[in-house]
Amino acid sequence: MALVTTTEMFKKAYEGGYAVGAFNVNNMEIIQGITEAAGELNSPLILQVSAGARKYANHAYLVKLVEAALEVNDIPIALHLDHGADFEVCKSCIDGGFTSVMIDGSHHDFETNIEVTKRVAEYAHAHGVVVEGELGQLAGIEDEVNVSAADAAYTNPDQVEEFVKRTGVDSLAIAIGTSHGAFKFKPGQKPQLRFDILKEIENRIPGFPIVLHGASSVSQEYVREIQQYGGKMADAIGIPEDMLREAAKSAVCKINIDSDLRLAFTAGVRKVLAEDPSAFDPRAYLKEGRANIKALVSHKIIDVLGSDQKA
Ligand code: G3H
Ligand code: 13P
Ligand code: ZN
Repeated sequence: MALVTTTEMFKKAYEGGYAVGAFNVNNMEIIQGITEAAGELNSPLILQVSAGARKYANHAYLVKLVEAALEVNDIPIALHLDHGADFEVCKSCIDGGFTSVMIDGSHHDFETNIEVTKRVAEYAHAHGVVVEGELGQLAGIEDEVNVSAADAAYTNPDQVEEFVKRTGVDSLAIAIGTSHGAFKFKPGQKPQLRFDILKEIENRIPGFPIVLHGASSVSQEYVREIQQYGGKMADAIGIPEDMLREAAKSAVCKINIDSDLRLAFTAGVRKVLAEDPSAFDPRAYLKEGRANIKALVSHKIIDVLGSDQKA
């Protein structure tokens, strides 16, 4: 099967009351772990690539690795640019084989965000590629840009209809209290998401696919393992999975997960190296990281997203 856009995936997810997982990829083992899980569960999949991933692995390697995954797994996969900073990076991914791009103009004022997003949407659509825009700002770290909790802002439902109409985007990322990274809430703080804002947005743009960034739930099992096997990691708290399950049943059609993958992979690698300090074959420890990624993604697909058997 060739790479697909998210159009059909989102239509089915919206109507079926589930969400498609968008997992960040940076190397072969991560791609293998995610796609093996989705392949076995017959689930649609979005593999997303950040500017940092392109810098680390090289655009060409990532595209070819994802193409290889498509040869092995017969499921629909969309290849998506995560947090495109400007028109140029989006153009480079559209020209370079991606089927979906995000233009993240959320840090701009409303009019500038519309201007840059519209420009990307026009170019993308002329090339058969779909576009995700963002309104509202999440807290946390992405590509070395750190947005403090104080600067984060919920999406204003009054703006969504105008934004979607004027830009021509195909999906919209919103801010309702999720945040990037593994440290989403302070110890003792009660995790909360603004489902009232999500509902209001849903009412303003019925049928339109919504995207949730910063949706890792930060498995305590992996945090403990990292700590147990010598990692210096503070206690971390993510988005409770019951909240993600609720979101997946709503207009939210794409749920972004990266930090959970990082924790799973690192826990696996640390475990092997701690249990066998003489190990020096990279396959021995990367294999364990990959196995953890596969187990994590299987769990997300079955127990959180509800996208199994929906390919
Ligand atoms: O939202 C950000 C993603 O987790 C990607 O992170 O920019 O460090 O690759 P990165
Ligand atoms: P997490 O840091 O919660 O995994 O969020 C990832 C993300 O939103 C990628 O765009
Ligand atoms: Zn994000």
